[in-house]
Amino acid sequence: MMRWIALLALVALIAPWRLAAAGETPRQMAVATAHPAATAAGREVLQAGGNAFDAAVAVTAVLAVAEPYSSGLGGGGFYLLHQSDSDRDVMIDARERAPGRATRDMYLDAEGEPQPQRSVDGALAAGIPGIPAALDHLAGRYGRLALGESLQPAITVAREGFEVTPMYRRLAGFRREVLADDPGSREIFLDAGELPELGHVIRQPALAATLEHIAREGRDGFYQGELAGRLADGVRKAGGIWSRSDLADYRVVEREPVVSRFRGFEIISAAPPSSGGVALAEILNTYGALVRRAGGLDDRSVLGLHYRIEAMRRAYRDRAEYLGDPDYVDMPIERLTSADYAAGLAVGISPEQATPSSALAPVIIEPEGPHTTHFSIMDADGNYVAATLSINYPFGAGVTVPGTGVLLNDEMDDFSQKPGVPNVYGLIGAEANAIAPGKRPLSSMSPTFVRNDELVGVLGTPGGSRIITMVLGGVLAATRGEPVADWVAQPRIHHQHLPDRVEVEPGMLSEDQRAELELMGHLFEVRDGFGNMQALAWWRADGRLEAASDPRGEGEATVFAVEAP
Ligand code: DON
Repeated sequence: MMRWIALLALVALIAPWRLAAAGETPRQMAVATAHPAATAAGREVLQAGGNAFDAAVAVTAVLAVAEPYSSGLGGGGFYLLHQSDSDRDVMIDARERAPGRATRDMYLDAEGEPQPQRSVDGALAAGIPGIPAALDHLAGRYGRLALGESLQPAITVAREGFEVTPMYRRLAGFRREVLADDPGSREIFLDAGELPELGHVIRQPALAATLEHIAREGRDGFYQGELAGRLADGVRKAGGIWSRSDLADYRVVEREPVVSRFRGFEIISAAPPSSGGVALAEILNTYGALVRRAGGLDDRSVLGLHYRIEAMRRAYRDRAEYLGDPDYVDMPIERLTSADYAAGLAVGISPEQATPSSALAPVIIEPEGPHTTHFSIMDADGNYVAATLSINYPFGAGVTVPGTGVLLNDEMDDFSQKPGVPNVYGLIGAEANAIAPGKRPLSSMSPTFVRNDELVGVLGTPGGSRIITMVLGGVLAATRGEPVADWVAQPRIHHQHLPDRVEVEPGMLSEDQRAELELMGHLFEVRDGFGNMQALAWWRADGRLEAASDPRGEGEATVFAVEAP
């Protein structure tokens, strides 16, 4: 009898999440994006019977209109998808590609010296965009609605306009000279050549027409025919090197995400040409080995933070040396993400002393890009999407191709321009990330899922090289069972091997913790507000769905029920 009671008690204990894991759905839906108009569009499409993938189309397109400093039809990105009926995770690689006429030395002068501005400002900085192809692929392969239906909210915002916000003013101010130099950008994004006032309405009729082209003709509406001709001609007139065949040849690629395990969770994240999933796996494996060696640790204790910093340092070193476009370079991904490799790294980490980065084999520094965007979506059936999209710098290359409304990216700056020579952000390139025609530049964008029987977490953020360590912070908070609002709001800590210093937000460390870590040999730099994380958590045990938008940004998160028709 006692045995039966014990067994029943055990079943009662584990039943809630066993039931939840067995095909249960969230019943509600959630959208978190960096702009309220994009969140509203995602919600509208979900309420109209679209799934998470249709909502991803709508959100991407509205962000392309209303957050022109972060992402756009002229940019690229990575979409991590989970399809509930097939229980499958897949990454859509919509990263930009180098044009066919790109050469390894294209940003060097006659003396072989780098000319950093040329990969940042102007049409030569632009890779072939991936977002229009991703919109078509998402709608055609995964969505329930016609592409044109999901693009409608963006067409409306492009025509009717959106209001200038404080963030718009900050980023347009940062790029004012470049925008003012290009007639197309000046007309759209400035007000008579000056920074527009708060509340000024930005209308983009040419972009609305381009979206309508895509709505009617799908990917061919952008990559073939009249619009493609206008794009290639416009880029060449502005000093770039695109050809029509570069556009016609662009394809998104479906890739297997990188999966690692930590504290009983699966961490699913971006595969190369993003460095995110590989670096995250290496950090989590190394940190996990160190926590076990210590017999358990609080993530925010001095020793926990020291171990986290040391794990970050080593993963960023490897990122710099090994990673690039998988279609061009062989990479030791299995080794870098293996438990054995992490165990070896952990052996070299002292519990008392920081390892100077100069004591590791020579490395690469990664830039801190000033803008980009992330969104997270879940539908009532349990499909979900994490997507990080970019045009690299605020307002990309600053050039808008006449007659298209398409603002060009400057993602070519993510390539290494010359081995061993830092780019404009201090990025030193390795061979794996050298420029070649058709190649995709190495990225840090890391859309990520954190999953076990009790939780599905969906998260990501912009922030250049700091993306990976911010996502790491979110993953650690998720595995500690914290509410999603804390994943996005918690203070951040970052180390990227070089420069050899720890960046922290105010409030990350107490005075005492900082003093102890300094005694161990860590150097600190306090930096305000990095990142703009958008995250969701479906707590499967009790069915709760939570969404949160980073308080550092201007985004909006919403959870809502399916409305009766
Ligand atoms: O792909 C990358 O890693 C960069 N182009 C992302 C830039 C970025 O996140 C800027 N954000 N604030």
